Amino acid sequence: MKITVVGTGYVGLVTGTCFAETGNDVTCVDIDVNKVNKLSSGQITIYEPGLEKLFERNLKEGRLHFTNNLEEGIREAAVIFLALPTPPGEDGSADLSYILGVADQLGKILKDYKVIVDKSTVPVGTADKVHAAIAKNATVEFDVVSNPEFLREGVAVEDFMKPDRVVIGTQSDRARKIMGDLYAPFVRQGNPVIYMDEKSAELTKYAANSFLATKISFMNEIAILCEKLGADVDMVRRGIGSDDRIGKRFLFPGIGYGGSCFPKDVQALVKSSQEARYDFRILEAVMDVNEKQKLFLIPKIEAYFGNNLKGKHFALWGLAFKPNTDDIREAPALYIIDALTAAGATVTAFDPEAMPNVKQVVGDKIKFAEHQYEALEGADALIIATEWSVFRTPDFDKIQSILKNKTIFDGRNLFEVPRMEELGFHYESVGRLA
Ligand code: UGA
Repeated sequence: MKITVVGTGYVGLVTGTCFAETGNDVTCVDIDVNKVNKLSSGQITIYEPGLEKLFERNLKEGRLHFTNNLEEGIREAAVIFLALPTPPGEDGSADLSYILGVADQLGKILKDYKVIVDKSTVPVGTADKVHAAIAKNATVEFDVVSNPEFLREGVAVEDFMKPDRVVIGTQSDRARKIMGDLYAPFVRQGNPVIYMDEKSAELTKYAANSFLATKISFMNEIAILCEKLGADVDMVRRGIGSDDRIGKRFLFPGIGYGGSCFPKDVQALVKSSQEARYDFRILEAVMDVNEKQKLFLIPKIEAYFGNNLKGKHFALWGLAFKPNTDDIREAPALYIIDALTAAGATVTAFDPEAMPNVKQVVGDKIKFAEHQYEALEGADALIIATEWSVFRTPDFDKIQSILKNKTIFDGRNLFEVPRMEELGFHYESVGRLA
């Protein structure tokens, strides 16, 4: 099938490349000339494990093309995916100007029937708005479908290739058939394509992310309670997770969720609820708990150093909001850096991928190390903010010999508490028995 993906950001590039991988002819359109030139010449513009190989292969085999020209890019396509940014506006609601701008142009240039698909996470009712924006100028038939993505950064290729489910929101039989054919190769393992109306599909995406964010904030509050009551959150997590109705996954407490999705989507759903004159109290609490959780380690660190961090120096392992990405949007590490430096402390950080991005944001505020152990030099304590695999089994002897104090504040519960005690560390983590 010939398809077009408008927008070559994270979602667009993964979508385009993975559809090419299953034999489709894919054209990706972007207004950024520089990006299109880079991509056309084989330079990938995002970091995502496994994507580069597929990108290079499909580009070489002629199934993946890039252009700045929307009219040329959509000419032969049966399906046009819109994978455009929906940044939060000042009031927290999603800004639809990119999507509606492209919809407006599409109306003017469509020459035959096409399926136009909202892939971006968009508020309920957006498919109707896109439909209206195209219909204003269109002279041919078309359908607008909502097909939200459920990709996780770091495992996006796997999530795309083997999805738990594919949600397709449309009331048109013609569009349903085309979308079903396009996704057939991805759901062979028995995972379902779930058909529904457009609005339900749009809400499914927000409900999924908000539910997962709720699980995390819930566990973060249980962890706080564990510390206050003398219980261990690892035990409680195992105890509740083995109940199928709760599930083992996404129950790990830590220093809060970050990234480009959960914070934005939870906020947008709260905003949509307010517009519908409904006060979504659980989600307001989820956001509030998460804001506080990002700074969960700070009072522990302050208490340990006698409530005076002036002149103290910290090693910080992990800057990305989660492992296997260089994404630092809403990353807890940035909040920790702000709090420590505001209290007069200095920081040397190490992250396998995210240092260049953090440098751009914080400039000279902190130092960066070439290596995880180099970050420890002269530090009064080590703080862990992201659970990269390379931090999971470090050389503890080396850590002890470099750190000034044998002290670790771990925001991701990477190590077993008894082991750390045995090794003689002062070790503080999230919600576990000391
Ligand atoms: C999330 C969803 O998981 C995807 O299904 C969705 O498609 C995507 O948002 C999106 O809307 O685009 P992502 O933001 O890449 O994906 O990251 P996750 O792996 O889901 O992690 C989100 C945050 O939750 C991270 O900060 C992580 O550290 C935190 N987390 C996750 C916990 O604190 N505890 C857990 O048990 C799991």
